[in-house]
Amino acid sequence: FGPQRLSGQNVVVTAGGTQEPIDPVRYIGNRSSGKMGYAVAQAAVAMGANVIFISTRPELPVPAGLHKMIYVETAAQLQGTVSSVFEGADVVVMAAAVADFKPAQYVTHKIKKQPNTTEMQLTLDRTPDILATLGQQKTHQFLVGFAAETDDLLQHAQTKLAAKNVDLLVANDVSQHDRGFGVDQNAVTLLQPNAVPETLALADKSVIATQILERVAELLA
Ligand code: PMT
Repeated sequence: FGPQRLSGQNVVVTAGGTQEPIDPVRYIGNRSSGKMGYAVAQAAVAMGANVIFISTRPELPVPAGLHKMIYVETAAQLQGTVSSVFEGADVVVMAAAVADFKPAQYVTHKIKKQPNTTEMQLTLDRTPDILATLGQQKTHQFLVGFAAETDDLLQHAQTKLAAKNVDLLVANDVSQHDRGFGVDQNAVTLLQPNAVPETLALADKSVIATQILERVAELLA
């Protein structure tokens, strides 16, 4: 124990929102800034872990002390990258906001407005659920998922905890302006199978990240 509580652990962290291209200039995205995932990666390094960090945000400064930094854009790329490092991982933290749908077809040129039309239809396909797939495949890995909800937070989070077979689920309310997407603070509830949920009060994402990883270290010990 002590400050190096994750020493020797191989920890994979994902951060940011995926971007699903429509054409060369447009994409379907979401409001994730990557801040929560960056805070988790930094806290994991501070706790002595070997961190593989997978991010969609190349414009952000690279956290110091990483084992490896990998950039991706789409849910499919994120899935391919996470799968390639999964076997060697002890802990995977899925803080990335992964698109649930992507354009069914990528158009290779910029889509032009059609004269005299006021609407356009876009057909979307489901993306793979990366975390649920890891939940089915895991052998020794400890899986941490997030749940971003706007209503019935605990109920939806409990459903995700079970459906995705994760060991720890971090539920956050993304309907309020002082927490969740884009801002420096968060307030979360930690859920585990067969345990009473614990709420962590509004605090800097760095503090929340450390609290999440302390729980992980406790459960691994
Ligand atoms: O990046 P910030 O601006 O700091 O904001 C932080 C955050 C709100 C994005 C973060 O705290 C958070 O909640 N991340 C998860 C967002 C999300 O995709 O939640 P979800 O409830 O839709 O998905 C549940 C879990 O399944 C997540 O761990 C997600 O990574 C994973 N998932 C979801 C869909 C999918 N196709 N594959 C997945 O692996």
